[in-house]
Amino acid sequence: MKNILMAASEAFPFIKTGGLADVVGSLPKYLDKKYYDCRIVLPKYACMRQEMKDRMEYVTHFYMNYNGRDRYVGIMQAEYDGVQYYFIDNEEYFSGPSPYGDWLWDIEKFIFFDQAVLSILPVIGFRPDVIHCHDWQTGLIPVYIHDKFAGGDFYRGIKTVMTIHNLKFQGCWGIRDFQRLSGLSNYYFTPDKLECNKDGNMLKGGIVYADAVTTVSCTYANEIQTPFYGEGLDGILSARRNDLRGILNGIDYEVFDPDNDSLISTNYSDTNFRTRKVRNKTALQKELGLEVNPKKFMAAVVSRLTAQKGFDLVQRVIEEITTEDVQLVVLGTGEAGFENTFNYFAWKYPQRVSSNIFYSEELSHKIYAASDAFLMPSAFEPCGLSQLMALRYGSVPIVRETGGLKDTVEAYNEFENTGTGFSFANYNAHEMLFTLQYAKRVYYEKRRSWNNIAERAMKQDFSWDASALKYQELYDWLTR
Ligand code: ADP
Ligand code: GLC
Repeated sequence: MKNILMAASEAFPFIKTGGLADVVGSLPKYLDKKYYDCRIVLPKYACMRQEMKDRMEYVTHFYMNYNGRDRYVGIMQAEYDGVQYYFIDNEEYFSGPSPYGDWLWDIEKFIFFDQAVLSILPVIGFRPDVIHCHDWQTGLIPVYIHDKFAGGDFYRGIKTVMTIHNLKFQGCWGIRDFQRLSGLSNYYFTPDKLECNKDGNMLKGGIVYADAVTTVSCTYANEIQTPFYGEGLDGILSARRNDLRGILNGIDYEVFDPDNDSLISTNYSDTNFRTRKVRNKTALQKELGLEVNPKKFMAAVVSRLTAQKGFDLVQRVIEEITTEDVQLVVLGTGEAGFENTFNYFAWKYPQRVSSNIFYSEELSHKIYAASDAFLMPSAFEPCGLSQLMALRYGSVPIVRETGGLKDTVEAYNEFENTGTGFSFANYNAHEMLFTLQYAKRVYYEKRRSWNNIAERAMKQDFSWDASALKYQELYDWLTR
């Protein structure tokens, strides 16, 4: 039996701001329980839903010296879906209205978290063979295993994996504060270790010191070794290329299952979707106050509304997108400029544009089930889960060929009748527009081909089955 500890800043259903939470919350369920005892450790945020907090029970607490004084480290635990969770409780650090907010404060609280994660292990009596760290928030754990925690027998030999979900966020701050908080000596602040552009950098620490580095698709693993996608870390990532692998994310096929989803109005499968899926469209049109018309081409967006996701392209040609023969349904929150654009067009074309600027798990399922096409023209995309959900619900993805989008959506080939979606290569608004118009033509003029695309999409397997095996292989290799 191997012990695996996942350390992360979010995991669904306890707390979620994006795909990271979906991955951390679902992967452990799909590891083989006969061979892997995989547990998760998260901060206990005050902003977690009360229902989730009610599931936690107090284990114990102690004090840990951090940033100049002794700080409370409470340990809570819960079991969810057969997986053991631990939560680090400290109200000073984790009581904000959302998991992230102010840069420096976030760095202070996650360095605290990283030290607390290692400190609780002897207390809870769980010695991991591998600590699997996710994103910059946990980047100092591999560093501390070689430093502050290197002394005792308990920590000796623990292996670490650093998984990059998004290289855009690295946890950087001026070296002086960084050193004060982390307690790391000058030795670490050189360009081959934690320094990057004169700042201390948490993610870089993880990349340099982890025994293995992974990211969430093969294409992104290659892209981040180039200056365009590397966000300043392409050098160190190239240097570690032999320890860097891309393992594609899966999604939870029990949660995302159109045949068995209680959040949508009509269930359907890849055999009966041709007649049943459309009922979800008319139900959603009614609910959102759009023209009720089963024949209208409905394109959807469910996303953080940020530049990463390519919304400047959408903004550029939104007038040309929202023609009479299209309905556009948006669910998301993010940058005000994008929110305002969608709100404005929903006001201008109330029959065909619906802008929902909030977060709703329930509405997201209804949109995947209702829409004909799913638009995701990302500038970069480490993996992307939304397009996997769209595929599963037969909402045909229209994507830019980058990162995980390139690895999961196969472009429609009208001559061979293959493909599961539509894609374009360059980050260019009109290239996106032409691709969308092409998709629309297939939808209206070659419905049989369209339905075949949707059927192939639904038949793809992006469950965790294959990818969980790859993580298991990695854990085995590290502990061989
Ligand atoms: P990222 O992690 O970069 O935001 P992903 O595609 O990996 O992108 O994951 C996004 C996840 O967040 C998906 O599960 C998607 O359905 C969900 N999501 C994004 N915005 C919203 C929203 N406003 N309401 C509900 N779910 C959302
Ligand atoms: C990040 C990426 C997204 C990925 C998710 C989970 O948020 O932006 O592409 O799917 O992490 O790995």
